Parts: sequence; C-alpha cells; structure tokens
Amino acid sequence: MTITTPDAAVTDPTAVRLAALLDQLTLEEKVLLLTGRDFWTTAPIEKIGLRRILVSDGPSGVRGEVWDERSPSLNLPSSTALGAAWDPAIARRYGNVAAVEARRKGVDVVLGPTINLHRSPLGGRHFEAFSEDPHLTAKLAAAYVEGVQENGVGATPKHYIANDFETDRFTADVVVSDRALRELYLLAFEEAITEAHAWLVMSSYNSVNGATVTENALLETPLNSEWGFDGVVISDWTAVRSVNSARFSQDLVMPGPAGPWGDALVAAVTAGEVDEAAIDRKVLRLLTLAARVGALEGFEPAVAAPVVVEDGIRFAKEAEIAGSVLVRNTGELPWVADTLTKVAVIGHNARFARTQGGGSATVLPERVVTPIDGLITALPNAEVTYSVGAVVQEGIAELPLGTIVNPHTDEPGARVRFLDADGTELFAEDRRATALVWFGGDAPISASAVLEFSTRYTPEETGEVLLGFAGAGNGRIYVDGALLHEEHVIPEGTDLGAAFLSPPSASVAVQVTAGESLDLVVEYDIDPEGALMGALSITIGIEPDQSNPDALIAEAVAAAAAADVVVLVVGTNSKVESEGYDRSDLDLPGRQDDLVRAVAAANPRTVVVVNSGSPVLMPWRDDVAAILLSWFGGQEYGDAVAAILLGEAEPGGRLPTTWPATLEDVPVLDVTPENGIVRYDEGIHIGYRAWLKAGTEPAYEFGHGLGYTTWSLDDLTVDGSSLPAVGATTVTVTLSNTGERAGKQVVQVYASRADSTIDRPVRWLVGFAAVFAAAGESVSVDIQVPERAFADWQDGWHYETGSYLFEVGTSVTELPLSASIVLN
Ligand code: BGC
Repeated sequence: MTITTPDAAVTDPTAVRLAALLDQLTLEEKVLLLTGRDFWTTAPIEKIGLRRILVSDGPSGVRGEVWDERSPSLNLPSSTALGAAWDPAIARRYGNVAAVEARRKGVDVVLGPTINLHRSPLGGRHFEAFSEDPHLTAKLAAAYVEGVQENGVGATPKHYIANDFETDRFTADVVVSDRALRELYLLAFEEAITEAHAWLVMSSYNSVNGATVTENALLETPLNSEWGFDGVVISDWTAVRSVNSARFSQDLVMPGPAGPWGDALVAAVTAGEVDEAAIDRKVLRLLTLAARVGALEGFEPAVAAPVVVEDGIRFAKEAEIAGSVLVRNTGELPWVADTLTKVAVIGHNARFARTQGGGSATVLPERVVTPIDGLITALPNAEVTYSVGAVVQEGIAELPLGTIVNPHTDEPGARVRFLDADGTELFAEDRRATALVWFGGDAPISASAVLEFSTRYTPEETGEVLLGFAGAGNGRIYVDGALLHEEHVIPEGTDLGAAFLSPPSASVAVQVTAGESLDLVVEYDIDPEGALMGALSITIGIEPDQSNPDALIAEAVAAAAAADVVVLVVGTNSKVESEGYDRSDLDLPGRQDDLVRAVAAANPRTVVVVNSGSPVLMPWRDDVAAILLSWFGGQEYGDAVAAILLGEAEPGGRLPTTWPATLEDVPVLDVTPENGIVRYDEGIHIGYRAWLKAGTEPAYEFGHGLGYTTWSLDDLTVDGSSLPAVGATTVTVTLSNTGERAGKQVVQVYASRADSTIDRPVRWLVGFAAVFAAAGESVSVDIQVPERAFADWQDGWHYETGSYLFEVGTSVTELPLSASIVLN
C-alpha cells in the first residue's frame, strides 16, 4: 500500500478514499478520534469501518493491553544493551521480535524506541535509550523502526524532544541552541523518519526554549515540513494540556477519554478559534495510521502478516550477549567449565536480577533466568554456592510465587477483591504475583472503595521480616486475622508516574518461622482522587533486612575464599533507575563497594558482573580480575552471562556511553531545573565530546570493549581524497582476527578538524561497523560516512570546506589509523 502525505494534493487513490471517509464524519466524531478512548486505545467509528487502534509500551518488549502476569510478555535486554551491541542488524531484529510480540497481543503500535540521548549519566531513564552519541543512536533508531514496521506494526520514536532527564519532567524547560538540537537531539528522530518512515512520533512532556512540546513549533519544523513525516504525533501520557495545542502539529491526545480537547475543542472550532482544516489534517493522519496497521476496513494494511519471525527467547539471549561489554579482563576470562570445581556466586542481583528498568517500560515476563540459575545450569559438575553479600533492594520486594498460596483456590498466588464502601464485593481475581498494576482492564477501580489482597505466605527463613505494601495511600496489614499496622503512605515528589510505579512503602516487623505459613491480608483504601484516572498500583511483600551488613559481607568473603573463582553480581535497584526521577549519584546502592573490595581481597579470581542500566562508579575496578557490564539483561539474562563467562559466546558489546571514574569528573551532569529551566549550555559537547574537550580520562571510554580474540586493523583507504562540496564517502579498512577464536569487533570512524573556524568536537563518530571474523580471517570492511557528518548547523546545514581527518579504530581513543580528506 502506498499512502502519500495526507496534506499533499489529493491525487493518490488511497488518499482520495481516506478523504472520502473524513467527509462522512461530523466535527464531534473527528474530535472524538483525536483523544484516546482509554489508556491504550483510540476510538472506533463503525460507520467508516474503523476499529480501535491499540498502542502499548515498549520499548524492550510489548506489555499489551493489560499489566498482568497472567498475560506475560517477552522481556528483551534494555536499550542500553542494544546500544552497546553497536549493530543495526541486531536492532532491526529487536524491532522484528517486538512486532511479533505486538501482533501476538493484538497491539497495533509499539511505543518505542526511546531515542533521547544520554546527556547526563544521572538521567533516570538512561536504560531506556541507546547512547550518548547521536550518530550511533540514529542508526539504531532507524533499524529498530524498520524492524517493527516491516512486520506491520507501527513504531513510535520517543520522546520528541530534549526529554533527556526526568526531574520535573512535566514542566521543565530545556533551553538549548538550534545547533545542538539539530546536530544532536533531533538527529535520531530525523533518521527514524527520513530513513525508516516511522508511522508515529511521541511528543514529550517538557518544554523546549519556552514552549511546552505539545504546543511547540518544533512539531511542524523540522518534523513535518522538512522531513516529510506523514504519521501521527501521539502525546506522551497527559502531555497535552490545552485546547491551544490543537493549533499545533499535535495529532492525538493520550490517554482518554477525558482530556483537554473533547467538547472544548469542538467549541473552539465552532467559534472559529481553531481551524477545522487543522482537525481534518490530524484525522487524516490517524486514518492513514489505521489503514497501515489494518484497522480500517477496505484498506490493505502495509504488511498483512509478520514477515520476519524468529524465536524471541533465543533472540533475547543473543541480544544480551551482543550487548554485554567486557571492560576489563586480566586474562581471567573466558573460563573453561571443566576446570571449575567450586564457584562462589555472590550478590543480591545474582538472585534477584534486574532484567529491565522500571516505569512504563516494564513488561511481565513468563520466566527470568537469573545469573545464579544460568550458572547452575551451565556448570552441572561444579559446586555453585550463593551468598547475598549486601542488601541492594530498597522498599518492598514482591513475594516469590513459590512462597504464596491463594486461600480461595489453594493454588500458588493471591486473591484480590474490590469492595465498595459497604464491603460488598464488586470484582475479584486470582493473581500469580504480588506486584500488581491496573492500567485499563476490567477491575472497577473508580467504583471501589477498598482493595483487599489475601494470601497464605510460607517464609523460607526463620526470623523477623518486615511485611508490608508499597503504594501511595492508606493501607492496613493483617497477619492471621490481627490488624498489625495501618499507615497512610505519602509519595515523594510530584511526579505522578513515579508515585504510581515506584511508590514508597509501609511495613511492620513480624516474627516468622521457616515453613510455617501465615495468613496475610492487606486492605488498601482506593482514593478516587489518587487513583490516577482509574489506574492503581500496589506491591505486597517484604522490605529488606538491613540489620547486619557486616555479617553478610563476612559470609560472602568466606564463600569466596573457599571457591576457585567468584562471580560477583553488583547492580542498581528500582529506586535508582526508573521512570519519573533522576539519580542523585552514580554509586552502587548499599554496601556493594565494600563487598567487592572484601571479596576481591579474599579471591583474586573475582569477576564482577554489573547489572545496571547505565553507568555506576566502580572505585575497585583495578582490583578485580574482570568486569562485565551486562545492563538490564532481559529474561534470558543468566544464560547469557553464563555463556560469556564460560566462553561459549564472546561478549560483543562496546560502550555506547562513557563510564566515569568519579562523579566530579563528569563534564555534563546537571539534570535539575533551576527556576524551571535546564540549560544545555554545553551545546554540542556531550558525552565523549565533552570528556575529550575537558581532557579528563574516564574509567572506560566511549567505544571501548574487549572480546576473547585479538585483532589488527590495516590498509585504511578513503574513496577519493577530496570530495565535491557535499557527498558521502566510503572508508575501507582490513580487519584481521589474529587470535585463536572467532570474534566480533566494532570498527569505529571518527572525524576531526583541527583548524576549524567553528566550534567543533575534538572528534566525533561518523561511521561504524560490527564485524565478525573467524580465527585467522581477514575481512575488508566498508563504512559509509554520510555527507551530514561534515555539516554544522547555522540556520541551515553548512559545510565547511577544507581538510578533515578520519581516524579509525576500536574506541574513541584507540585509533591506530588515520587519513585526510578534503571537502572542496
Ligand atoms: C512515558 C512514555 C510511555 C507512556 C505510556 C509515559 O509516562 O513517558 O514513555 O509510553 O507513559 O505508558
């Protein structure tokens, strides 16, 4: 199917038919279409054959219409892992797999990829985006979008634009130069549209240069007027705040059905305050999208059935391997499984791994392979011990399914009842989890007064546990029929998303005995005001015991000393990396730094696996044998980690973002609005560009990562030593695998211009290729450098003529080859 821009002169037959459908709609019906029908769908209009369009988060899996463990989803590794793979082919398959999941769940549109930049490592949603570099982000964004859409599902690059931090995200105004916008923040959106023709773009919450994005001229230029976007600008959830926004190129308000448009917009059009042509344009775009995804009768969808289908579970493991970055290896790895008799696995995250970041991106996987699971499976002949070492969890952790029984069914799980003010049951369901979110679905949230959760809990250990709930509002905790605690929990900060998805908790100390079950009931008062538009979230479980951290370390040290080798998994928790807030520092939570030092001192063969979505400080990094950055590894995480440590697979990742040694060293850090404003005063110098400018050495530089073989790079040629005023060019090098095993290398091309008359980065990434070679094999690698790589923005793209240096290598500072090129 070809659909031309709805705004274009109506000559295309599809456009003519869409226009005819538009003509059948009243103003009220048109306006109805422009606000969601509920949290995740648009309104259907039967008379024109339009069904609802179902959208879903994204970006590392597809949750589907309900947030419910009974409808599980594939949980792919976090976007930072995808960024670290530096491989558009993997990004495209990631999109393919997401689209297959979407279709399995009846979803028409994936709300991803997230393609904001890692401007500051404190950004709380860093894990959801690819990189600090615009070129790398752009290539991966376009590939992801292509992958989703070639399987017939719409992709939604988000959040347009300059939504690179979370603090006061609804109101913060980003003051940023046009040059930085064009060269950095807009670039990936540009390529997702001009190269991959994204069907939607999500407008962000924040303001840019004084105007909130949903009422910002940036929605038209460059998005529509320059890039030819013909899709739907869907708002971030509640980002549209006024009728005035309808005058801008904001097409669809989410969620609904309430919202600022509706009747007010009908009235504004009737009064001549908003042009009906503006409404028509939005509706045509929505109908175009409906046609593309197959939601409009009589129109052939863009793709009838997914064309690129592969095993998602296998892919999740492969993608995690491709994105895991070995930043340090003293020769310890890979291990030979047969030589290991006793392996000490240490760390909270080895057992309670984070496989994804928190917030709207959360999906509910059917299973998760943790590092301890993966290692036990991979080492059938070794003794594998486990010690927690340090407390990482903050707030309530859900109760493992194996420890709870639903008193009404005697099956694993819990009963949840919704009661009205008189205690009459309005609705009940049997759940298999204790972290519960209702975001749409059948539960009558608004009509209910109380949620009652009940389970029979059998502790695995004897001692005192802190039983409780996490959820904003008032709750009562009963054990064996006795009310033990009542508390009104007040959320921190003003971010509704954070209060909703990562709420603070209340708990009470209870003495328990291993194997002896107790009846646990939590009653939670549903506050119609607090229940965000009929949505509700509560987690029932246990707060960590912080009483004896030294004992935990001592126990881990003893286990380490008694083992051949140690796998120490350190990481962040959901209070550190999640949607709705930024980080205040880059430290590992709790006593994890002390733990690493103590364990490394006890066993020199300590390998640290870092389970975080974004950079953490590793002050002990020179004291351990190896460090593997594994991000939030997706549901197959543990199998991927085991495969890498045991050399079954090579760690394929390279850093998509600089990892600092100390917080003070970070050149661009600030994420906190001052008087409501965050100034991107560093202009085009973020990430490695800023590090190079400052002359500060990070812990591990952009592009860095080790594999298990050795390489040489030779024979650099650049096609044509001089170019016409504008033109793309090809860089060719020979990459030889000089080692004993097959491997992956990421060849990186950086440009620089020493004598430039304009402010430029010290060097900037202009091309890259992920290359695979067998032992002893030499591969000739061609890397296209786009003409834009030479350009700077000055009220238009400007090309400075003269000489540029290309440097080629394996990180931003490891650049053995160079050649000059002259732009005439
Ligand atoms: C997030 C979006 C997400 C939306 C719907 C917002 O809070 O910023 O990324 O797609 O919620 O869940």
